[in-house]
Amino acid sequence: MNMPQWLKDAVFYEIYPPSFQDSDGDGIGDLQGIISRLDYIKDLGCNALWLNPCFDSPFRDGGYDIRDYKKVAPRYGTNDDLIGLFHEAHRRGIRVLLDLVPGHTSDTHPWFIESSRYEPNEYSGRYIWTDHPFTGIGGHPYISGMTERYGAYMLNFFASQPALNYGWLHRTEKWMSAVDSPEAIATKEAMKDIMRFWLEKGCDGFRVDMADSLVKNDDENKSATAAIWRDVRNMLDREYPEAAMVSEWNNPVQAVNAGGFHMDFYLDWGWCANGYNTLLRDYEMGQEDRSYFRRDGHGDIHRFLDEYLPRYEAVKDRGYISLFTCNHDTPRAARTLDTDELKTAWAMILTMPGVPFVYYGDEIGMRFLDVRSKEGGYHRTGSRTPMQWDDTANYGFSTAEKDRLYLPVDPAEDAPTVQAQKDDPDSLYNTVKEVIRLRHENPDLQADGPFEVLIAEGTDFVYRRGSLIVAMNPSAETSVLHHPSFAGKKILYRIKDVQLADALILPPSSFVILK
Ligand code: NOJ
Repeated sequence: MNMPQWLKDAVFYEIYPPSFQDSDGDGIGDLQGIISRLDYIKDLGCNALWLNPCFDSPFRDGGYDIRDYKKVAPRYGTNDDLIGLFHEAHRRGIRVLLDLVPGHTSDTHPWFIESSRYEPNEYSGRYIWTDHPFTGIGGHPYISGMTERYGAYMLNFFASQPALNYGWLHRTEKWMSAVDSPEAIATKEAMKDIMRFWLEKGCDGFRVDMADSLVKNDDENKSATAAIWRDVRNMLDREYPEAAMVSEWNNPVQAVNAGGFHMDFYLDWGWCANGYNTLLRDYEMGQEDRSYFRRDGHGDIHRFLDEYLPRYEAVKDRGYISLFTCNHDTPRAARTLDTDELKTAWAMILTMPGVPFVYYGDEIGMRFLDVRSKEGGYHRTGSRTPMQWDDTANYGFSTAEKDRLYLPVDPAEDAPTVQAQKDDPDSLYNTVKEVIRLRHENPDLQADGPFEVLIAEGTDFVYRRGSLIVAMNPSAETSVLHHPSFAGKKILYRIKDVQLADALILPPSSFVILK
């Protein structure tokens, strides 16, 4: 299998399009706005972007309810603007991944409208329908009574998102298509057609939404869904060998090894314990926060490593685990971590193997805001507020009146901005920028660089990345560490006054890279 070589040194930046930069004063971010901020992204050191869906949509789920996969949503611009973004990004050495939503469309998509007609037609099998309006779909959510078609249709997520039909592995009803039925294959080919459409126009690959959700009644290894993605990967290897795919699957062994994804996200989904939440978001309502990066969390790095290491070992020769600072579905870590805690956390995420993702605004510690749900965001909306650039109106996000903004900006007096942090060498922004710079400068710190845990005891965490050693102490107590590998090393980079003599002395909330 082919591996796009640019992934080795990729550091991604995720952009939620309506909230990054408004260029035309209508209060909503747009593609020209993103283009105008590419120099900022390059200067930060990120060399790849992931854009959340920017396609035509009624926006009942932030654009994850697509009405036309081949058309940019007018509020963000035109297809030509997106092609212009590819071009301007490439000029700066930045790749662009779009968001592919293969599991469902909007219920306003022409495929669905056709599919819900009384008369059978080309799209009748594009979605999952039962053969009777009073027949449900085993524990799956469905809708009945809304269409002239005689049947009920399955949902993949919200009520406005009918499930596309990739077939069922275990078929228990006669209306369930086989995975190799013409209609299931047509759905897969339609997705490949959309991928080719944008790849031809210059996009560099896709983040794949709910990538594990395609085949229903799949086995526990998701082998039928994985087979579809392997087929897609074969297409990319043959036709677009530089294109990359990252999955929202949260199971790197299935996604990478079986499905052929280049990268899989390590997500914060509470129900699949992978250790990630123990780093940043280990709080339940009314319970003490035990997050590793909390100074008072009394953390234990083993709660992360015991889950991470077997997964890392299993996929490391085939693809990457992607750790992120946050995403558009996840509470921003600044909700519970202060600036010093965020510095050590981001420094770790940016020095681990695999391909890291920075969520827009996390480089300045943007906060999780208590705001009203927007476009199906619900609790997630608080992580989707406008980027805070400078001290002009609306922090430079938009020239629109406040009440026309897509979402409110941070009302706090001390809301973080890029401008305020740029000139402060000790800021979170400059910490992130410096660690990214060191990652680019030292191949050992990159996706493929060797990784070996040297010390993992409570809050003490030390790992070797080839010729470099990374150590951190997120706790409130100074830590004094001894290890033979420290001999002959010098401090390359440190957060807080870390000292190296006979021992490595790590003050509270500190981080160091030794060379
Ligand atoms: C995952 C996306 O990240 C989320 O924002 C969306 O609501 C669901 N998938 C449904 O597409």
